[in-house]
Amino acid sequence: MSDKSRFERRLLCIGAGHVGGPTMAMIAAKCPRYEVTVVDVNAERIGAWQSDALPIYEPGLLQIVKQVRGRNLFFSTDIAGAIDKAEIIFVSVNTPTKTFGEGAGKAPDLQYWEKTARTILEASRGGKIVVEKSTLPVRTAHAMDRILNSNRKGIHFEVLSNPEFLAEGTAIRDLEFPDRVLIGSHQTPEGGAARDALVEIYANWVPRERIITSNVWSAELSKLASNAFLAQRISSINSISALCERTAADVGEVSHAIGLDGRIGNRFLNASVGFGGSCFRKDILSLIYISETCGLQEVAGYWQGVLAINEYQKRRFVQTIVNAMFDTVTDKRIALLGFAFKKDTADTRDSPAILIARKLLDERAVVVVSDPKALANARLDLAGAPADRLLFEENPYHAARGAHALAILTEWDDYRSLDFQAIFDSMAKPAFIFDGRNILDHEALHGIGFNVFPIGKPALTHL
Ligand code: NAD
Ligand code: UGA
Repeated sequence: MSDKSRFERRLLCIGAGHVGGPTMAMIAAKCPRYEVTVVDVNAERIGAWQSDALPIYEPGLLQIVKQVRGRNLFFSTDIAGAIDKAEIIFVSVNTPTKTFGEGAGKAPDLQYWEKTARTILEASRGGKIVVEKSTLPVRTAHAMDRILNSNRKGIHFEVLSNPEFLAEGTAIRDLEFPDRVLIGSHQTPEGGAARDALVEIYANWVPRERIITSNVWSAELSKLASNAFLAQRISSINSISALCERTAADVGEVSHAIGLDGRIGNRFLNASVGFGGSCFRKDILSLIYISETCGLQEVAGYWQGVLAINEYQKRRFVQTIVNAMFDTVTDKRIALLGFAFKKDTADTRDSPAILIARKLLDERAVVVVSDPKALANARLDLAGAPADRLLFEENPYHAARGAHALAILTEWDDYRSLDFQAIFDSMAKPAFIFDGRNILDHEALHGIGFNVFPIGKPALTHL
């Protein structure tokens, strides 16, 4: 049987990362009649996707990949060949913050996106639908249109914006049961036809009322705005946490009280050591940059405040540690429990733990980094730090042995049920615990003998 008769549609995704891999695995699982190929310039990554040691850790992902890989999901480095065969091409390459030139430190670096557009153009012998899955500044689709449709081959490309809203650690659930799927298209007959083709794919498992459509610019901006709103909630509650610590209010009680207001809602109101991850800061910087380039300084300043509070929260956490431990942590052993930017991922991109570890090393503490999944990335993040002051230890009990303090930086479920009596017994005294995620039973820890410093709650000390 030829491939043509086996599959109804041929989909391609360029970029086999945190978005491309899981998203395409879900499409392949839900649409056995489609052939789904994922390509990447990184051959090692593609090799990992073809093995059982996937390049990213995501609960439930390996099971899905194993179910569909070789059936209708394929990983390849033959980018040109795959482009030529595909009807619909999703692009989920990375869009980090630019580190050079105009807009450095704010604007997204669109070089990977642009190179991809040129590769698509070169390798295509017929027209295609190109779907922006990466998070891009508003009006990027316009640039893509111009590059793709500047061809002399007489072929037409239709660009759609279909931003991805999955969160790491819950990607499979988010993809299977999305709050919404957003598809932005040009308001032309070709745009409408491309939009309908993409709606049809998602309609294989997403209820129609959750598939919403808009113009391309609204879709692009909605993605940046969604991340900005989510991050803004965290900075809001973190700003309140600082106030709680000065007033003996309890941020948990405040967050509960405000979250019961149906207009506010109770999600994303956990005070923490600060938000991390590859996207919140990057996307807010992108929003700030667009606002500035549109001459909207007040708008830019508003979002800048969300980032400023996040930086403040991370610095404040380190200051609390140093101040509580008699204004010096030099030569003291501090065990960081968790390095990933959130639980259930090995991802450490922009994790608050990076800054906290570096600041403690600057204070000449001995830092022991512990994490169940993220130690390989942590080693890269902290490369160049003095080797005699930086240790890595997966087992939290070993990390804590002889430590003067523990700091919880990631809310891994396993940390909730550690034997803290045994940990306390193995530590230097007085023993401190800084709960940067408010996941522990602070009263019980205090009862054991710890000096406990939560976020946004009164400290419980024996000093
Ligand atoms: P990633 O770094 O994990 O993966 C991107 C992949 O693209 C890499 O494997 C890289 O090798 C590949 N790539 C780069 N240039 C290429 C090219 N020219 N041809 C082929 N492959 C190329 O990034 P990610 O986390 O998957 O994010 C991708 C995009 O999705 C970003 O714009 C991000 O903002 C957005 N996003 C990410 C998440 C998330 O949870 N990580 C969620 C929603 C949206
Ligand atoms: C976030 C968004 O939630 C996704 O919708 C979006 O698709 C994605 O960014 C993206 O564009 O990359 P993600 O960064 O994977 O997803 O994870 P989140 O669950 O949003 O957490 C982000 C950070 O905020 C983490 O460091 C987390 O610990 C922190 N956080 C979250 C808090 O500090 N408090 C909270 O109440 C919630």
